[in-house]
Amino acid sequence: VPICLKVPRGEGEPVRKKVMEAGLLDLGRRIGRDGVHVLIPVTSPEAASLGYEIVEAELPSREVRETDYRKLADVPEDLREALPSSFDIIGDVAVIKLSDELMPFAGSVGGALMAALPRLKTVAVDKGVRGELRIREIEVVAGRASTLTTHLEHGARLEVDPALEYFNPRLSTERMRIASLVRDGEVVVDMFAGVGPFAIAIAKHARPSRVVAMDLNEDAVARMRRNIALNKVEVEAWQGDSRELIRSAPLADRVVMNLPHSAMDFLGDALARMNAGGTAHLYAICDRGDADGLTGQAAQCARDAGVRVSTTVQELKTYSPSSSMYALDVRLLERL
Ligand SMILES: C[S@@+](CC[C@H](N)C(=O)[O-])C[C@H]1O[C@@H](n2cnc3c(N)ncnc32)[C@H](O)[C@@H]1O
Repeated sequence: VPICLKVPRGEGEPVRKKVMEAGLLDLGRRIGRDGVHVLIPVTSPEAASLGYEIVEAELPSREVRETDYRKLADVPEDLREALPSSFDIIGDVAVIKLSDELMPFAGSVGGALMAALPRLKTVAVDKGVRGELRIREIEVVAGRASTLTTHLEHGARLEVDPALEYFNPRLSTERMRIASLVRDGEVVVDMFAGVGPFAIAIAKHARPSRVVAMDLNEDAVARMRRNIALNKVEVEAWQGDSRELIRSAPLADRVVMNLPHSAMDFLGDALARMNAGGTAHLYAICDRGDADGLTGQAAQCARDAGVRVSTTVQELKTYSPSSSMYALDVRLLERL
C-alpha cells in the first residue's frame, strides 16, 4: 500500500522540501489533503525520521512524471540555467559538478536528482580529481551517506567507491572496442587498471591467454580483486608502480594505458615490454587541434625505446571547452 507523511498543513511546503532533499519524495503521486493535514507521498518508511507520522493512503497518480531534475530543484530562478544538463551515474550514485554559486543549493539539487531518477540512492558533488591516484574529492549531498556501489557495464558487475577509487563510466564503449580487438591467446597488460574495468571487459568478452592489471592505489587493487572474483574471470591484479612492475610483466601483445595526464611518460617502458605487432592503447588529454602533436610524442618515445611504431589517433570525448581526451593506438612495427 502506498505510504505518505502526514504533516500539519502550515508545515507542508518546508517538509516537502526536506523529503525531496532526503531523496524520498514519490513523484508518481500528487500531494493530498486530510482535514488540517497534508499527505506527502514518500517512497520509503525512512521518511518517518523527519518526525512525522507515516500513514497509508491512495493518492491520485500524476500522468506525467517529471524526469528532468532541473525543473524540480529548489534553486533561485536565475541559477536554474546553470544547472548541469549532464552528470555521471556510477551504479546507483550520481556524481555531479556544481558551480560555486550553486553549491549553497547542493542539497536541493541532490534531492531533485533523486526524485527525478528513483533508482539513485546517493547524490555526490564532484570537487575534482586529484593526485597520482586520481581520486575524486566528493561530498555526498543527498541520500545514503556511503558511495560504495555496483556498476553494471556490458554484463560485467563492477564494485566501486568513487570516493576511494577512480572510475570513469563514460569509457564503456571504448572498453568494448578494445576487448573486440583482442585476438585469441593474446597477452594483455593494463598498466593503470583502477577497479579493473578494461581488464575485466577483455577477460570476459575475449579469449586472451593472460591478463595482468596493475594499479598503485591499494584500495583500487583490493576492489579489483573482488571484481575479478565477482565476474569469475582470470585476471592477475598487481599492486604497485607500473613503471617498476612492467619490467617483470610478461611480453605483451596489447597494453592499456589509461592515465590521461601522464601515460605518455610511461610509453617507452611499455614499448620495451611489447611483442612486435602488438598495440599500446594510450589515452591522452590535449588541446583540440594539437592531436598531431600526440602522434609526434609517441614517435619520439618509440625512437628512444629503439622501436618503430605507427600511430592512429581519435578524439574520444570533450574534456574541457578547449581540450579533449584522445585515444592513441600505437602499433609496434619492429625493433631497430
Ligand atoms: C584514470 S585512472 C584509470 C582507471 C581505470 N582504467 C578506469 O577506466 O576506470 C588511472 C589509474 O592509474 C593509477 N596510477 C597512477 N599512477 C600509477 C603508477 N605509477 N602505477 C600504477 N598505477 C598508477 C591510479 O591509481 C588510477 O587508478
